[in-house]
Amino acid sequence: MSVILHPDEAGIARAVALLAAGELVAFGTETVYGLGADATNARAVAGIYAAKGRPRFNPLICHYASAEDAFAQVRANAVAEKLAAAFWPGPLTMVLPRGGDCPVSLLAGAGLETLAVRVPAHPVALQLLAAFGGPVAAPSANRSGQISPTMPAHVLAGLGGKIAAVIDCGPCVVGVESTVVDLCGPAPVLLRPGGVSVEALEAVAGALETDAPVIEGRAMASPGMLASHYAPGLPVRLNAASVAADEALLAFGPPLPGAGLVFQLSAGRDLAEAAARLFEALHELDARGQGLGLRRIAAMPVPQAGLGRAINDRLGRAAAPRG
Ligand code: TXA
Ligand code: MG
Repeated sequence: MSVILHPDEAGIARAVALLAAGELVAFGTETVYGLGADATNARAVAGIYAAKGRPRFNPLICHYASAEDAFAQVRANAVAEKLAAAFWPGPLTMVLPRGGDCPVSLLAGAGLETLAVRVPAHPVALQLLAAFGGPVAAPSANRSGQISPTMPAHVLAGLGGKIAAVIDCGPCVVGVESTVVDLCGPAPVLLRPGGVSVEALEAVAGALETDAPVIEGRAMASPGMLASHYAPGLPVRLNAASVAADEALLAFGPPLPGAGLVFQLSAGRDLAEAAARLFEALHELDARGQGLGLRRIAAMPVPQAGLGRAINDRLGRAAAPRG
């Protein structure tokens, strides 16, 4: 059962408690309804991918109550400061390098070293974000491949029963998603056209590169970027049916005997738990495995269903031949 919360003090307090408990809460923004989770809680973030039926991990936007809160977790620059002053709160998302002690889970950022941040212009969303006091990861609150929701009823039609609650914030005034700009390079790059026009952006930020080969989801479409992020130092062997003493084992369910080191993704073979721990597992097996002089990471098979597809997609990239 998904409850509908009123956009008043009691409703917001309930939503904050649910988010803090790792639950999913949909809320209105000026663009579309977002499916919110505590961005610092990898397990809650994994729940977003599961509820949406998103077949692969695509990085999520983190939402904040103010530019100050957002810029405390990324490395802003002069253009970002100017854009924030002009368009936040509002339908603009900026991709910036993660800050050194950024608490956002690696899963929310899909393992990238950048983070997409936004301050939405909706009074209820801002109250929720201020009361929660931390980053809220939120993609559009629809099943993957379906139309973005701009009314609570749309959210419930797609995700009813799969999420804890939706805050009734009325219809969304913008109705298309935020504009996404990448500010990590020398010139701003448009990754997704959206609620703030290119013309308006250029008036503040100067010329925008708008002909990036792939616009939406560029970060995911760029294999070079992904390879460098998902490939550990140690080679990865997939579908391990046995393991050697000079290998580190990525276990899913009862571990194969004989490994030099083991990281358990999920003893009970829970895909959401495994997804939440995947990046952490690869980091740890790589670092500790190299320290122990191990030669390889051997990964036990994960079912190719639900979040297992995303896990296998990432493991496949990690195991792909290095360029
Ligand atoms: O208006 C919106 O932006 C809505 C509301 C809820 O805020 N959210 C939304 O999220 O549209 P989503 O997940 O549907 O779209 C996020 C977009 C995707 O195209 C994703 O690839 C891109 O932002 N993105 C997120 N993080 C990124 C990153 N670190 N680098 C490049 N692109 C990123
Ligand atoms: Mg979407």
